[in-house]
Amino acid sequence: MTRQASPHFSLSTMLLLGVFNNCATMDAASVSSPSGDIVLSCNTDAEGIARYEVQHKGSPVILPSALGFSFTDGSTIGKGLTILSEKQSSFDETYELPWGERRLVRNHYKELELVFGKASDGVKSFKVRFRVYDDGLGFRYEFPEQEGVDALEIADENTQFHLAGNHTSWWIPADWDCYEHLYSQTRIEGIDALGMYKDNRPMSSTIVENAVCTPITMKTDDGLLISFHEAALLDYPEMTLRVNPQEHMLQSSLVGSRRTEWKARCELPFSTPWRTIQISETAGGLIDSCLIINLNEPNKLGDVSDYVRPMKYVGIWWEMHLDRNTWAYEGGRHGATTENAKKLIDFASKNNIGGMLVEGWNTGWENWIDPEAREGIFDFTTPYPDYDLVEVARYGKEKGVELIMHHETSAAITTYIDRMDAAFGLMRDLDLHCVKTGHVGDIIPVGEYHHGQWMVNFYQSVYEKAAEYRIAINAHEPIKPTGIRRTYPNAISREGARGQEYNAWSPGSNPPDHVPNLVFTRLLAGPMDYTPGVFNIKLKPYRPDNQLNSTLAKELALYVVLYSPIQMVADLPEYYEGEPAFQFIRDVPCDWEESHTLNGEVGQYVTIARRERGGDAWFIGSVSDEKPRHFELKLDFLPEGKSYRMAKYADAEDAHWDKNPCAYTITRSVVTRDSVLTLDLAPGGGAAVALVPID
Ligand code: NOJ
Ligand code: CA
Repeated sequence: MTRQASPHFSLSTMLLLGVFNNCATMDAASVSSPSGDIVLSCNTDAEGIARYEVQHKGSPVILPSALGFSFTDGSTIGKGLTILSEKQSSFDETYELPWGERRLVRNHYKELELVFGKASDGVKSFKVRFRVYDDGLGFRYEFPEQEGVDALEIADENTQFHLAGNHTSWWIPADWDCYEHLYSQTRIEGIDALGMYKDNRPMSSTIVENAVCTPITMKTDDGLLISFHEAALLDYPEMTLRVNPQEHMLQSSLVGSRRTEWKARCELPFSTPWRTIQISETAGGLIDSCLIINLNEPNKLGDVSDYVRPMKYVGIWWEMHLDRNTWAYEGGRHGATTENAKKLIDFASKNNIGGMLVEGWNTGWENWIDPEAREGIFDFTTPYPDYDLVEVARYGKEKGVELIMHHETSAAITTYIDRMDAAFGLMRDLDLHCVKTGHVGDIIPVGEYHHGQWMVNFYQSVYEKAAEYRIAINAHEPIKPTGIRRTYPNAISREGARGQEYNAWSPGSNPPDHVPNLVFTRLLAGPMDYTPGVFNIKLKPYRPDNQLNSTLAKELALYVVLYSPIQMVADLPEYYEGEPAFQFIRDVPCDWEESHTLNGEVGQYVTIARRERGGDAWFIGSVSDEKPRHFELKLDFLPEGKSYRMAKYADAEDAHWDKNPCAYTITRSVVTRDSVLTLDLAPGGGAAVALVPID
């Protein structure tokens, strides 16, 4: 597998303006990626329909695919278009991320800007801006200010993606309310989102047509990897992709609302989010791609290092999912007590863990999911009587452990909007800077969906308000990530997929291929708060009918493989006691200088190496599906002339995700860049490696 080399270029910005064409009308234009491998062309046909197409090394990736919109007044952007002008430019910069999988990101593309005329009745002209990179492309529509038109009421966006074959695809259905589904692997012709996901649905779920959620990842019969997503989703509904299986056609289908005729209402001037297509010859290349983050605006929050802090965290959390304790105070099994919180702070401070989450600390949990009683039940400021919030925050400070707040809104969004200032104000008073938010249930106001324009604006308003209070947000039941973290680096992590919690209570739990699916789909979009690190794999005695379909060594690997700047140490402390493998969790950082994917196949296995931010230690994680794996990996990403003390945490020879999940070995040796790392992963297993330089 190929890897991206570390960037060795200056931090200067180069902007080269190229050709500017403004002839009466023209009917075709094209632009290629910096390397020339990817070529994007766009033209208008005899009917004036604008179509773009994409080739990789001369082979079609996207066949001619139409661009367009329909509006609520019945007008459309579709036929009768002309290209009025074309502008080409190129751009090359390297910028620094305050936290991330890598410190430096290269943003290098060629751009084609097309101005279209004779659009719809209301729109006189609009632009499409294409940016073509070596790892894929993005394009968006831009609508300038126009006399007599204040806003566009969009019934739907009709952007097509005509695939060049019946590709193998990894997908979840387009659910307007929830991403917490298991992935399916089918050919395009086999995609049946309505039929295959009719049962076993998460709590709040709205699937309206045969459409898929992005990122959706595909492999062509020639072995090319393609992934579709969007970047910079702001003030617009999420894009899902309606599937016409027989035609191998995907078409944008925006998430709607039952409260409005339009799916999006956009005041002029506005730009849509970027429609993105990642293209790679290796599966690992998709992971190492920075396309999504590159298509977002630079950091708008300035220096956030005083409050956005990558860290591991423990929580009063897993015991509730195991049903040992409860979120609610009534019933005598309340988890969030001052005493429990202090014990956990002691545990965290002894084990190099920087944060502690407490759920169920505030009044309202007695009937939090009752559809009739959700509005107004949480005020986010009143602790239960057995929880001394001020004392817990103080004790945490004394021990160097930051209390992470929890705001479950139970999807009563209007209540949260009204009370956010009070909730964040309390956090400011207590000098707390991180909150996990959650939005379980159907959205109030009734008629909105989690992924519609109204909610996209809500999620965004939380980031912006939180920034005023110097608070970082870890959102559960969020909008999917689209690289906004570059612009708003207080968007520290989010859920937006089926996480560890499903292993505690869902029938069948997460199967062994769930993580190798996630890494090549959802994780391409951005960090995920999966909450790894459960050592009590069989969940006994709490959940005898459930288990993790994983080995203990694989749980360690997740800290490297599933990138998140905040990583939970999810299990109950007693399951770490006396367990030598816990040393890996103590040691592993959450913020990285550079990252390289060493191998991988979508849905099967992946191995990722990362170097700690500001240091020279390396950490490697490797996971498999239900098959055993044997890898011999070069360590040639290590610098010349340095030796490392290696600790390898691996599945024991007879380990197995179901029959023997907790058997592991730890082996220690000294390695250099010339060494070969051998990894043997059990069925459903994994491996974790720490490499510490010897001075
Ligand atoms: C769902 C979240 O994903 C989970 O982490 C949380 O514990 C519950 N909601 C309660 O807020
Ligand atoms: Ca959830």
